[in-house]
Amino acid sequence: MAQQVRGVVAPGKDEPVRVETIVVPDPGPGEAVVQIQACGVCHTDLHYKQGGISDEFPFLLGHEAAGVVESVGDGVTDVAPGDFVVLNWRAVCGRCRACLRGRPWYCFDTHNAEQRMTLTDGTELSPALGIGAFAEKTLVAAGQCTKVNPAVSAQVAGLLGCGVMAGIGAAINTGNVGRGDTVAVIGCGGVGDAAIAGANLAGAAKIIAVDIDDRKLDKARTMGATHTVNSREADPVETIRELTGGFGADVVIEAVGRPETYKQAFYARDLAGTVVLVGVPTPEMKLELPLLDVFGRGGALKSSWYGDCLPSRDFPMLIDLHLQGRLDLEAFVTETIELTDVEKAFERMHEGDVLRSVVVL
Ligand code: APR
Ligand code: ZN
Ligand code: ZN
Repeated sequence: MAQQVRGVVAPGKDEPVRVETIVVPDPGPGEAVVQIQACGVCHTDLHYKQGGISDEFPFLLGHEAAGVVESVGDGVTDVAPGDFVVLNWRAVCGRCRACLRGRPWYCFDTHNAEQRMTLTDGTELSPALGIGAFAEKTLVAAGQCTKVNPAVSAQVAGLLGCGVMAGIGAAINTGNVGRGDTVAVIGCGGVGDAAIAGANLAGAAKIIAVDIDDRKLDKARTMGATHTVNSREADPVETIRELTGGFGADVVIEAVGRPETYKQAFYARDLAGTVVLVGVPTPEMKLELPLLDVFGRGGALKSSWYGDCLPSRDFPMLIDLHLQGRLDLEAFVTETIELTDVEKAFERMHEGDVLRSVVVL
């Protein structure tokens, strides 16, 4: 039988979010209902509310979540009721050309639940990134649930569902950072700091953090940055070169998503180095670079989708490293809040001293 629970809904463009009663259907074939324990507040939720992602209002927000599987539909074998899971927004299909070539992290046909959650009047909800986890329970495709060690706290585990995984994966998966590498990270919000933590985990010898806000740079040091550059005060390209023997960094990770910071990343890397774009640009942005420099500097210019992660491979591994004390995920949780505080958390995002507000249920 369908259940009624509380959830945070964005009713229309730029309207404040509201806690509403939502109807969660029983899981159909291939689906699961998950009892949410914690869900981080991400910029993407704010973008949904602002109408920047699509106009399919009302949205059920929230997508960086962990919880316990309550029930599963027919044919679900990978997870069972009672499993502690982290939700992901790229459930790979196993059948598209990327999956068949053995590169499922590029899956071109990721899927979500087929049934829709609704308001009590029957209005269909669009769950943010196919998840909708600012809610006591949510309906997802079973492939969106990845079982992890239940010894971890839900507020920490849920972070891997989006921004923190994107950053760590930008370093370890897309950038292939290895022991002894020099790495620069431009933009030290939640994603950039996670890239710093990922580079640290991979054994980078030097990790140079670049931001325009000194508070972010202080935090970046605690995440593993060995050097910091305030790019309002010093030229970041010059400084990164000076710090790397005049060469530039082996891997530069752009975690802002703007043409000017991308250019800094492009010129701050060593010859044949790698640039990873994990910051998400907006549609009107354009990049202009001398094509000869693109050719002449060699190397790789990559973008990182969700940290090129494979949830089934990366979530349990990162949770285990965290539980062993080798990856500080708690450092990303600035505050824990209630379901009713999401609007306030959106306001706090602009203040610059929050990495993640996490709704705890
Ligand atoms: N140069 C350097 N740093 C900058 C600049 C700039 N020109 N402009 C902004 N920043 C810094 C901000 O000071 C902030 O510390 O970039 C950081 C951005 O952090 P957040 O706003 O917290 O965003 P975050 O969640 O980290 O996401 C960063 O990755 O996944 C994408 O959509 C996401 O595009 C966004 C990016
Ligand atoms: Zn696929
Ligand atoms: Zn997100």
